[in-house]
Amino acid sequence: MVTLEDVKKDPEIDTYFQKTNAFLGKMGAIVHDYSHANTVSDNSRRILEALGYPKREAELAAIAGYLHDIGNVINRYDHGRVGAVLVFTFLLRMGMDPEEIATVVSAIGNHEEKTGSPISSIGAAVIISDKVDVHRARVRKKDFSTFTTRDRVNYAVEHGELKIDPAERRITMELNIDLSISSVMEYFEIFLTRMVLSRRAASQLGCNFELYINEARFL
Ligand SMILES: [Fe+2]
Ligand SMILES: [Fe+2]
Repeated sequence: MVTLEDVKKDPEIDTYFQKTNAFLGKMGAIVHDYSHANTVSDNSRRILEALGYPKREAELAAIAGYLHDIGNVINRYDHGRVGAVLVFTFLLRMGMDPEEIATVVSAIGNHEEKTGSPISSIGAAVIISDKVDVHRARVRKKDFSTFTTRDRVNYAVEHGELKIDPAERRITMELNIDLSISSVMEYFEIFLTRMVLSRRAASQLGCNFELYINEARFL
C-alpha cells in the first residue's frame, strides 16, 4: 500500500513540488513550501485519528494533504482540480488501488473555497487543515507597502492552533492576531468563505467548528 513516506520520497513528485513553490514565488504569492504541505498533511491525519477513523483513512488524508496544492505547478487558478489530475497520474504509477486514488483525488479537487465541497471525511480533513494554516511565516514579501490585504491578514496572525475535541465533537481554530496590522473585520473580509467551508467540512465529520480570535469567539 502506498504510504505518505513513499510519496515524499518519490523524485518525480518532489520535482513538481519544488517547482510549485518556485513558480508561486515569482508571483509573490503566499508560501507553499514543505512546511505548508506537512502542516496540512499532519493536521489532516490528526483530525481523522482523533475522531476515531481507521488508520488507513488517516494515511490517505495525510497523502491528500501533502499533495493538495501541487496543481499550482500549472496555474494558481483551478489548482485543486488540475492537481487532482496530476496526482491521479502519480498514484496510478505507484500502484495505488483505484478506490483509494478516487478518495485522494476527490479530496484534492475539492479543497478550494470557490469550487470545493467537503465530499468525504478525507476531503473535510484536508479543507479544515488547509484553511486554518494562516500565519506570518507564509508571507513571502518583505516590503510592507506591497502587501495585499491577504498578505496583511496572514502577516497579522502571530499564532494559530487547531484543536480537536472528540468527546464534544468539536474542532476549534484559535488565532492570535496583531490588531495593529489587521483588524478582525479584515480577517473576515478575506477569510469568511474559508471559515464557512471549514464549518461545512466539520459538519461532514459530525463536528461543530468554532473560531476564536484573540480569545473571543466568532463562530
Ligand atoms: Fe490550495
Ligand atoms: Fe494549501
